[in-house]
Amino acid sequence: MAFVVAVAQQKGGSGKSTIAANLAAVFAADGRRVALLDTDPQGSVTRWHEERQRHSGGRAAPLFFDHPSGWRVPTALDRLRREQDVVVLDTPPHAGTDAKLAIRASDLVLMPLQPSPADLWASDGTRRLAAEERRLLRALLNRVPAQGKMRDRVVAALAEQEVALLEQSLGNRAQFGAAFLDGLSVTEAAPRSAAAAEMRALATAVAALADRR
Ligand SMILES: Nc1ncnc2c1ncn2[C@@H]1O[C@H](COP(=O)(O)OP(=O)(O)OP(=O)(O)O)[C@@H](O)[C@H]1O
Ligand SMILES: [Mg+2]
Repeated sequence: MAFVVAVAQQKGGSGKSTIAANLAAVFAADGRRVALLDTDPQGSVTRWHEERQRHSGGRAAPLFFDHPSGWRVPTALDRLRREQDVVVLDTPPHAGTDAKLAIRASDLVLMPLQPSPADLWASDGTRRLAAEERRLLRALLNRVPAQGKMRDRVVAALAEQEVALLEQSLGNRAQFGAAFLDGLSVTEAAPRSAAAAEMRALATAVAALADRR
């Protein structure tokens, strides 16, 4: 049975699509059977995957891709759970029905947030959905600046809200945008970068949660 990860956060631009695509690609490079589902009508990951197909047979590890919406999401997952090792869902920037369906279908809700008050406040809706659906929730700090106190304040606020935070985080790294534009992960486009090392560490942490199941 596949481990289903929904990358969800009501706040727009927190890094959901970037993290979903990169996570799927790292797992695929490890030799796992991976499905990546874009459930966001904005279609960022769909564009990423279109670009990716130009690299097939080359740097890009193969993965199954689809962009279902609404009730097609749980239906698609019924099959993918049996056929894949990992399913990663990118979700839209709200806490409405589509996000709810994705969260309901997941084994893990990965909630990226940048260390900013807006991201922290906006995470309430996603946190509530995960709690209502009794899903395992892990917050992930993204675009963490090399310096600044905001990180510590956000970490303290999450602890107060009893939201578990992954130890691993992602820095603010230009490689994420550059790789995404080419339909690649940072591990494929810049394998020796700090961004790639951070992504591999994140995938290892997610795999450990899957093993714990
Ligand atoms: N760790 C990072 N370092 C640098 N840039 C990043 C990082 N993560 C994401 N970005 C950039 O931030 C922007 C928003 O990222 P992304 O599209 O993944 O967010 P999102 O949560 O999916 O947005 P939306 O809510 O609109 O779907 C993109 O330009 C992306 O390249
Ligand atoms: Mg997105």
